[in-house]
Amino acid sequence: FVPTMGALHAGHLSLVQRARAENDLACVSVFVNPLQFNDPADYERYPRDFRADAELLAAHGCDMVFTGELAQFFPGSRGDLSRIPRRDPGPASVSLEGDFRPGHFAGVATIVARLFELVAPERAYFGLKDYQQCLVVSHVAGELGGPAIVPCETAREPSGLARSSRNELLTPEQRSEAAVIYRALSAARDAWRRD
Ligand code: PAF
Repeated sequence: FVPTMGALHAGHLSLVQRARAENDLACVSVFVNPLQFNDPADYERYPRDFRADAELLAAHGCDMVFTGELAQFFPGSRGDLSRIPRRDPGPASVSLEGDFRPGHFAGVATIVARLFELVAPERAYFGLKDYQQCLVVSHVAGELGGPAIVPCETAREPSGLARSSRNELLTPEQRSEAAVIYRALSAARDAWRRD
C-alpha cells in the first residue's frame, strides 16, 4: 500500500514500483487530507488531477487506486473537520516540523490509521524524505498491530533536490538554491565520515 495525496511524481512512482516488486498486489490511495494542513490556502492550492494520477499509476503497475471524500472516510463527521477525533501521533511528532505545524502530525496519523483500516495492507511504503512522518506512521502501525512500514530512500533530481510536489512550486532560482542544502549536508556528512 502506498498512501499519497496525488500530484504524483517520480518519487511516488519509485514507491509504487518497489511495492509492486515486493508484493502480489500494489494499492495506492490518492486523497488530499484536509486534516493535516495548517493553512487553508495551502490546502486549496494543493495540485489535484486524479485522472492524470490514475493514468500514471496504471502505467506503473499499480493494481488498485482509490480516492474518496472526507465524509466517506469519516461518515459520522458529515464532512465537518471539527467532528473528526484526532489520533495521537505519538512522541516522534514533538519538535522538528511538529513545532512549526501544530496539528499536522495528528492529521497525518488520523488519516493514515483510517487508510490502514480500509486497505488492511501487509506492508505500507513511505518516503524517507518525510523522515518524521515515517516515525509517526511507524507509531500508528505499532498501535494498530500493522502493517509493516517500509521506509524508502528519497528520490532526487540530478541537482540533489528531493522530488516533491511542494518543490514543484519553487521558481527555477529557488530550486537551484534549495539544492545547495542537500549538497552542503552531504559534504558535511562525507567530511565527518572521512575525519
Ligand atoms: O506523505 C503524504 O503524502 C501524506 O502525508 C500522507 C501519508 C498520504 C497522509 O495524507
